[in-house]
Amino acid sequence: MVSLRLPKDSRITRGKTYKVSTKGKQNIRKIHIYRYNPEDEKNPTLDTFEIDTTTCGEMILDVIIKIKGEIDPTLTFRRSCREGVCGSCAMNVNGTNTLACTATLSDYKGDIFLYPLPHMNVVKDLVPDMNNFYAQYATIEPWMKTDSPAPVGKERLQSPEDRKKLDGLYECILCACCSTSCPSYWWNGDKYLGPATLLQAYRWVVDSRDESTGERLDQLNDTFGLYRCHTIMNCTKTCPKGLNPAKAIAGIKGEIARKEDI
Ligand code: SF4
Ligand code: SF4
Ligand code: FES
Repeated sequence: MVSLRLPKDSRITRGKTYKVSTKGKQNIRKIHIYRYNPEDEKNPTLDTFEIDTTTCGEMILDVIIKIKGEIDPTLTFRRSCREGVCGSCAMNVNGTNTLACTATLSDYKGDIFLYPLPHMNVVKDLVPDMNNFYAQYATIEPWMKTDSPAPVGKERLQSPEDRKKLDGLYECILCACCSTSCPSYWWNGDKYLGPATLLQAYRWVVDSRDESTGERLDQLNDTFGLYRCHTIMNCTKTCPKGLNPAKAIAGIKGEIARKEDI
């Protein structure tokens, strides 16, 4: 079993540079990519790839795929849908967490710096260890819980007004851009659930068909799990789907306050 910890006192050192001939070419961009392989127990490096951007697609993910396909097949990253719906290509581009498949080269001026999502253990290169994140998501029991039997031969109905309450929540693709931009999650990621999981929790709290609202709120009412959010708002600023996890967290706090008032 390979340790996911970085080497002690690890610093990012300069890595390899892959040059292209610039003769007659005006569209050369330098892409600097974080490289780390726990198996060789060396410090992480920042490798530089010069890319003629007229020979690949416009998305950051297109560039990474080109590098892997044509220059360095050992470059490791996650991706699946290539259209912003699976959440697997989340990474840090020039200091901001985003989806590599929806971020375009023209969004960034000058050199491009690619790092894995911050403050997570690194499995390899741009691949963070998501085990803790998914385990936290599982704790909120993200499925509809009901005691009453469903109407015979029918689905459980919801009014258009109640359905509307799920807008801005159901679109979350669990990319973790928000949680890994949250300072509270950086320091207490083992206990604080973080904005992504809390937004998902709120999605079930406000679902009119769910019959476990009280139990859900009791479970969420925890000093560390919920109240480590200090409304710093990094989460909302960074969400590549334009969602507002900070508002969802405030919504949970409001529901708990209302419940305790009754
Ligand atoms: S709220 Fe946005 S940033 Fe956070 S996990 Fe969902 S889609 Fe990603
Ligand atoms: S609003 Fe809360 S969850 Fe969002 S970044 Fe700030 S502390 Fe983290
Ligand atoms: S590859 Fe699916 S969100 Fe980017």
